[in-house]
Amino acid sequence: MAKTKLFDKYTFDRHLPEPFNDPSISKHSTDESHMSVYNAVSTKRSTLHSPTLCGILAYMELDIAASDGTDAKGAIGSQGAMVVAEYPSRKGETHVVAFNSNTGKFTAGRFKSPTDSPETYTMKGDKESGSAMFFALMPKALEDAEFFENYNQLLEYKRAGFTDLEAATTCAFILCDNLYRRIENADSLGLSGINIKTPATGNLQNFTALNLNKGTYNPTSVLCGDFEILKPGMKSGMPITITAHADLVGKYPLSERSLSTTDQTMVPALDEWYVIPSEVVRICQHAKMTTAGTQPMRNFLLRGPAGTGKTEAVKAIAAGMNLPYTYITCSANSEIYELLGQILPDLDGNSAIIGDVELPSFDDIRMDPPTAYEKLSGEYRDDVTEEVVYAKLLEVIKAQSEQESGADTPKQQSQKFKYVDTPLVQALRYGYCVEIQEPSIIANPGVLVGLNALLDRCNAVVLPTGEKVSRHPDCVIIVTTNNDYAGCKDINQSVISRMNLVIDIEQPDIETMVERVCGITGCKDLAAVKRMAELVDEISQRCRETMITDGSCGMRELIAWVQSFMVCEDELEAARYTVLSSVSADPENRAEIYNTCLAPKYAA
Ligand SMILES: Nc1ncnc2c1ncn2[C@@H]1O[C@H](COP(=O)(O)OP(=O)(O)O)[C@@H](O)[C@H]1O
Ligand SMILES: [Mg+2]
Repeated sequence: MAKTKLFDKYTFDRHLPEPFNDPSISKHSTDESHMSVYNAVSTKRSTLHSPTLCGILAYMELDIAASDGTDAKGAIGSQGAMVVAEYPSRKGETHVVAFNSNTGKFTAGRFKSPTDSPETYTMKGDKESGSAMFFALMPKALEDAEFFENYNQLLEYKRAGFTDLEAATTCAFILCDNLYRRIENADSLGLSGINIKTPATGNLQNFTALNLNKGTYNPTSVLCGDFEILKPGMKSGMPITITAHADLVGKYPLSERSLSTTDQTMVPALDEWYVIPSEVVRICQHAKMTTAGTQPMRNFLLRGPAGTGKTEAVKAIAAGMNLPYTYITCSANSEIYELLGQILPDLDGNSAIIGDVELPSFDDIRMDPPTAYEKLSGEYRDDVTEEVVYAKLLEVIKAQSEQESGADTPKQQSQKFKYVDTPLVQALRYGYCVEIQEPSIIANPGVLVGLNALLDRCNAVVLPTGEKVSRHPDCVIIVTTNNDYAGCKDINQSVISRMNLVIDIEQPDIETMVERVCGITGCKDLAAVKRMAELVDEISQRCRETMITDGSCGMRELIAWVQSFMVCEDELEAARYTVLSSVSADPENRAEIYNTCLAPKYAA
């Protein structure tokens, strides 16, 4: 008998959603390939669970809509430690659920239409199935590698129209089994477990019209979909308040520590022209005010188009908290050692010898992994990846230094190798504010797993040297990323779920752009700057419409345009050197933009 009401016996009797209602599919399986890694029972059995599958499939609809730019019903977002979700039920109602991951408790309500008062949501044999609750658990569920992997696999099958029903069913079994075990055995699974408290009566705490009206439940970030009942709180409609620099700088320290002189020089100074956005203050407040609690907020994500001021915002946040600022930039072929640091041969040449093995350099590994691998292991393998070779290298170094530590003096070894902290490790170790730029483009899933481990607050990181670094309580990690709503899909999901706040930074409006640019460039010709700002806006829109995607046109281009205009005093000429050349590398595209946007404005 299940411990949580979510897996009450009757919930297993419910009809499976399409395509799993196919008569060829049996609900129960003893097939080893259908078991989750968390299934530790001796006689293994895995069962398809309708509410789990309904929650997963509804989430996929949103995921697909978000990456395709289409509409889907339902929405999911967060508010502090709470996941808030609007689930489109199979009967056409909207089930609203808030799940508090600190307490494991759910609050829920049923709505016939968005404007109606909430009706009671109960978990009883003949009533609601709990699908909405599984839907709300999805961000938590996806934090797990096995779940994440099988979810994405199943998503692919769904996109293909479930043509391979057997393979899809295997994923479905693993996903159901994974979640069942992680919830039912949460106590013994540590971070992988999901703690849930559902009252034995099945009577959940329900929303009241009053606490909804008061705005008690306002998603501060939207992961995907559009909320109809719970209105996002932090988005538009926020009063614009001007914060003076003096009210931010150093006003949000996370601890009483005093910085070393070197650290102090790494704390950003705010330039006079910088207009403090409200998001910066919000993040500072959240980090500082949660410091005394058990789970201080230290991971944030800023999402928005290029040039909206994300990097500047991180620096301002660091200034607010009086923390040194560092950053790392990710690329599609980022490797884990770029995040965690590498052991470098400490020699002038590019290879080092340890024991009788000549070690390949990092360049060797990058350019020709099989040969590098052969050097290390004596075995030539065609299919070997950089990552495997790197792991092998560490293994060899470790084994050798253990062997030598008896005989050699440690000094001799440290002359052969040196370990270099990356900015990220520095931040973790000494408590800095670090910006991780664009981790979403990392192609190697292993690196992403490593990154996620870093983001988990309680996890210490093990460096290639074997040293264990635990995260300094003041360390603030801010991920910045360009892909706005596409952030919902694939690779970002696991990162997003580790963020305490996800803040969308909108493209600043014309007035804000003008204000910023005048502040930065010192240009006094307001009318000209306004005209240029409007054109930048128009051009970037035009580029989107005509699928010109190889360049960019935003805040940075506007700044350059205005600066050039101040020199040559001709808007059109300045445009050629700046906005127009950034639009695209293709002359045809540039001509198109010139003819449609620029020429009509400046034609004599
Ligand atoms: N709050 C601000 N006030 C004035 N100028 C700003 C502000 N935020 C950004 N800028 C200007 O916009 C430019 C782009 O900002 P940046 O932070 O690099 O964008 P992102 O990291 O989002 O691509 C900066 O060089 C800066 O000149
Ligand atoms: Mg940036």
